[in-house]
Formats: sequence, C-alpha cells, structure tokens
Amino acid sequence: MRVAIVGATGAVGHELMKVLEQSRLNFSELQLYASPRSAGITLTFKGQQLTVQATPDGPIPADVILASAGGSISQALAPKWVEGGAVVIDNSSAFRYDPEVPLVVPEVNGEAALGHKGIIANPNCTTAIAVVAVAPIHRTYGVKRMIVSTYQATSGAGQKGMDELLEQTRVQLDGGVAGSKEFAHPIPFNVIPHIDVFQDNGYTKEEMKVAWETRKILGDESLQVSCTAVRIPTLRTHSEAITLDLERPATPDQIRDLLAGAPGVEIRDNPQEKLYPMPLTASGKYDVEVGRIRQSLVFDGGIDLFVAGDQLLKGAALNAVQIAEYLQEHGALN
Ligand code: A2P
Repeated sequence: MRVAIVGATGAVGHELMKVLEQSRLNFSELQLYASPRSAGITLTFKGQQLTVQATPDGPIPADVILASAGGSISQALAPKWVEGGAVVIDNSSAFRYDPEVPLVVPEVNGEAALGHKGIIANPNCTTAIAVVAVAPIHRTYGVKRMIVSTYQATSGAGQKGMDELLEQTRVQLDGGVAGSKEFAHPIPFNVIPHIDVFQDNGYTKEEMKVAWETRKILGDESLQVSCTAVRIPTLRTHSEAITLDLERPATPDQIRDLLAGAPGVEIRDNPQEKLYPMPLTASGKYDVEVGRIRQSLVFDGGIDLFVAGDQLLKGAALNAVQIAEYLQEHGALN
C-alpha cells in the first residue's frame, strides 16, 4: 500500500506526516509532493529522510493520495490520479458538493466513504469539528435548527496565515503598523468577520460551507443552519458557539451523558473549575473539546454548547488519515 501526500510542505502536509507516523494505517511507502519550488528538499518521516518531488501533471504511482495543495491543484489533477488507479482523499473544497463524491467524517458517516468513485472529500474544518459534537445529538434528539458563531484560527489560511499572525504581532508590538496579505485586514489584536468571499445573500462562502456541508454529512437537507464565521488571532484551533433547536427536548445532563460516549469527543465542562473548551487546551489534541453545555434560553428544550477542535488535525489532516484507516479496515483499499 503506497501513500502519497500532495502539498507535503504545507501546514496540513506537515500534520499529515505526523498523524501518519502515529496511525494504524498499514502502508509500505510514503511519497511526498509539493510545488516545483520545493523539489529536492527532504523531510523526516519515522527517522528517515524523504525527498519532496514536484507534483507531476499526471498520474501518481500511489494507492492513496492525500491532497492538500489547494482547490485548483485538486480540480485539475485529482481526476488524473483516479484514472491512474489511486483513491484520492481531498482536503480542498473542489469536489465537496459533487453528489458523486462522499463528504466524510468517519465517526459520523464513515460508511459513505465506501461508496466512493475514486475521490472522497474531507470537509471544511469548521464543519468537521462541529459535526463530531452535533451528529450524536442529531441522531438522538433531531436537530431542527443550528446557529453557529465561529472563532477561527489563522491556520485556516495555511502556514502563511500562521506566519503572518506571528510576524505582524511582532511588528505591532515593536511600535509599527501591522499589515495583511493573507486576511482581509491585519489580524493581530483584531477579529475579522470575513472568511472567504461574500455571497449574494450576505453570508460568506465559509459560512455557507458550514450549512451545505453539515446537511450533506448528516444526510438531512431539512436542517436549517446559520453561521457567522470570524477569524481571530490564534494559531491552530477553531472554537465554535453552537445553539441547537431540537425536535425532542433534551437537558444538559442528557447531552453530557450522550457526548461522553461519543467518538472523537472530550467533554470539558466544569465551569466552577474553569474547565471548558479553549484553543490553549485543544491544540495538538485529536479529540474535539465540548463544554459550556446548557439549556437554551431561546429554544424550548434546546441546547447551547461550545466546542474547540484543532483545525489542522480534526479539521484537516487527522480526518483525512482516519478516512484512509476506515477504508483499509473495511477492506476497501489494496
Ligand atoms: P510549496 O511549499 O512547494 O509551495 P499551505 O496551505 O500551508 O500554504 O500549503 C500549501 C501546499 O501546497 C504546500 O505544500 C505547497 O508547496 C503546495 N503547493 C502550492 N502550489 C502548488 C503547485 N502548483 N503544485 C503542487 N503543490 C503546490
């Protein structure tokens, strides 16, 4: 079983290598690809030096390709990789809304991956993190409406986004005026309610992705979702305040018990002890932290909660590797 990473030198690529080192995925070879700029550099994997190759404009000799080099690369090359015999797990948004392409969070709808036709899409990071907590609630209590406000880390804009946060914070602390290349405005000491492009309905594409993708993953087109997506000056964990209007009323204790047994969730919910989800504690963790679980004051029997999940892990690299593991464990990989 040969695995390839396309975009190996990026922020998600780096995490893919770290997650693969710990993974139970059984594979014999790892190939690394990036842009021609990175060809020839070496990266360490399990103590060995692997050389990065320029991504070819055609098939890649691998059985599984983990793609994280952006939408235009995936759009142009993924069909060629599939023709070459590979299964592509794509981190970009290029194929997520194609009805032929499964959109998968293994804890939630892993079985959908088994119906793939060569490409499996990894969801938008905010959505992947939210559905780990929301899917068990939807299954048991039926979510009718979901209102999400996000606090999204700079890693969502790749390595360059994280670098800009650190560099421009330094500029500002040194008395200069922070600038911005990766975000709509300078990010240090700021919050920016603008991620991706604005749509005709006044929402951003990032906000609409949460609505479109949550419905697709949960398999429920009737679910109403409204999101406000905000970039904040943190490095790699997205946090989200989520309000759920439920078909069947639930108490906070019922939700806490339900989520305590849910895969991929760590309950962190003891406000008296100052215990709740935060980027400080969720960064680097595989599980999504869930806390501040309380009865909604707006929807009868509804629930408010707060989640924090590592954007580069459950929001990207970890989820992609878990999809590959799921396929292998279900005999769906060579
Ligand atoms: P490179 O480092 O050679 O530019 P991030 O999301 O952190 O910015 O990472 C993007 C990843 O996508 C990097 O590994 C980057 O490689 C890779 N990439 C960018 N452009 C291309 C391209 N034209 N072909 C292949 N990989 C690319």
